Amino acid sequence: MIHEEFNARRKQKSSAIAVTSTEESEVFENVLRPRDFENYIGQTDVKGNLKIFCQAAKERGDPLDHTLFYGPPGIGKTTLSLILSNEMGTALRVTSGPALEKPGDLAAILSNLKENDFLFIDEIHRLRSTVEEILYTAMEDFAIDLVVGKGPSARTMRLNVPRFTLVGATTKASMLAGPLRDRFGHVERLRFYEADEIQAIIERSARILEIDIDAKAAEILSASSRRTPRVANRLLRRMRDFAQILHQGKITLQVVKEGLENLSIDEKGLDHSDQTFLQVLCEKFSGGPVGLSTMAAAMGEEENTIEDMIEPFLIREGFLKKTPRGRMATEAGFVHAGLKKIEQSSMMERL
Ligand code: ADE
Repeated sequence: MIHEEFNARRKQKSSAIAVTSTEESEVFENVLRPRDFENYIGQTDVKGNLKIFCQAAKERGDPLDHTLFYGPPGIGKTTLSLILSNEMGTALRVTSGPALEKPGDLAAILSNLKENDFLFIDEIHRLRSTVEEILYTAMEDFAIDLVVGKGPSARTMRLNVPRFTLVGATTKASMLAGPLRDRFGHVERLRFYEADEIQAIIERSARILEIDIDAKAAEILSASSRRTPRVANRLLRRMRDFAQILHQGKITLQVVKEGLENLSIDEKGLDHSDQTFLQVLCEKFSGGPVGLSTMAAAMGEEENTIEDMIEPFLIREGFLKKTPRGRMATEAGFVHAGLKKIEQSSMMERL
């Protein structure tokens, strides 16, 4: 039954969106995506605004204004775009900044859209400037200026494209050029979810995947999900594996506790790398301040990985702060690492 549902939704999805990858996690993510506002949990304010904008545009027979979503990865930017296109009764075409290498790539996509369709550009801050420039006129005038020919005989040709809605998504709004940002009719910031919202998402996903899960197990799993639906759904699938192979199929509190331990994920959602970072900072460097390059060398990890993958979560959880002199563990960071902060004064006494 579940596989029929899974395949049906997969088909439904591929007709609505140009799917490029069929990786297990991506396919499941799509199966679990809510298709309407009613089934979308969390982001209440954003949802409220979007509902009104959709209704107003529909009543006028206009496409929805261009929309920019920004916020951390896995937080629902693609899902909301899909809901918007469903609400408006049009198709959603999905691409990403790095995938659009030449102006011609974007021109081809735009000219194949139908009136009022949605174009979703993920990681829009990574668009090349040559592509970004043609997007400006497309957004404003629903036309693109293409250069035909080379050298002295080169000329510009204006091509009309259907009226469409651009939905841009980015994790780094500050990296978006001003002129591009200004062309969006509304900009919505998506936030991390509350624990009870993540628990509700886990329970909804479990119902769709026909997984039996205890409420207490869902609550503990939600605490380890970094307040992010994508992480929650991934952990749910892994717990299902543990439950299926090692237990009787039901995800109980015991399954979750054991499963998280096997994955080296702690009760706050820190994974092995996060835990190592905190241990190294607190134990080797007495909580800092330490420079990024020193931390990278001490952990045997790349600086970029530390900056992009490890630190944001630790800062958000209040375990780490960045100071002009370097990274420092907070009191909560020490406690979480199972250590007591050594006060500067007592350190001086020991010297
Ligand atoms: N699955 C992923 N994100 C979701 C959300 N915000 N609401 C319901 N289900 C989801």
